[in-house]
Amino acid sequence: MEDFISLIRKRRTIRQFQPAEVPLELLYQLADLGRLAPSASNLQPLEFLVVNDDQVKRKVFSCLRWAAYINPAGDPKPGQEPAAYIIILVNTQIRNKGFEYDVGAAAENIILGALSVGVGSCWLISVDREQLQPALRLPDSHRIDSVIALGYPAEQPLVEEFSGSVKYWKDEKGCLHVPKRSLQQVTHWNFYGQKFPPDLKV
Ligand SMILES: Cc1cc2nc3c(=O)[nH]c(=O)nc-3n(C[C@H](O)[C@H](O)[C@H](O)COP(=O)(O)O)c2cc1C
Repeated sequence: MEDFISLIRKRRTIRQFQPAEVPLELLYQLADLGRLAPSASNLQPLEFLVVNDDQVKRKVFSCLRWAAYINPAGDPKPGQEPAAYIIILVNTQIRNKGFEYDVGAAAENIILGALSVGVGSCWLISVDREQLQPALRLPDSHRIDSVIALGYPAEQPLVEEFSGSVKYWKDEKGCLHVPKRSLQQVTHWNFYGQKFPPDLKV
């Protein structure tokens, strides 16, 4: 396994996947990483629906919206669709608001766990829940929060320095560039507005 900090730095959202299956055992293990994430008051309102059946995958795919800034250029190309999905569900009988923090922690566990074994992912909240809810046979008590699309990467997006716009873009070769605000911009030292010494390296 790679050094954990390098793994976090390397992670980029992946929207083009190789046509290779992700083993069911690995998907089950990733759901377990979601299960083990921090949970406010330890209420554990989340459940994880793993999808790898072809027909169900097609249904899930039809309910997703990809890369809104560059639509439709960011959609997975035919043959490069995700190999599987983990759908994060909220049991609203346990908690029906304030669960989003739990979702964030669980999703990142799944995303980084997947990446540690070479599996890329895209976390999606642009989901047609009305269509997907009945197709997945969800009871009324359970709500779809978000979907994590998974598969072996078929693209290598690059981080770019922020220069006024948060919008990611694709270059003429189809490579995705993702601007990130600078560390100086988003950090403060002891007091708001006081910056770290510029020669301090990470
Ligand atoms: C809560 C959340 C929801 C997201 N929803 C979508 C989505 O619906 N569709 C999509 O293509 N990407 C989605 N993304 C991925 C973001 O577009 C992506 O994280 C962002 O562009 C930064 O790129 P990076 O993940 O490579 O750093 C989502 C990310 C987060 C954290």
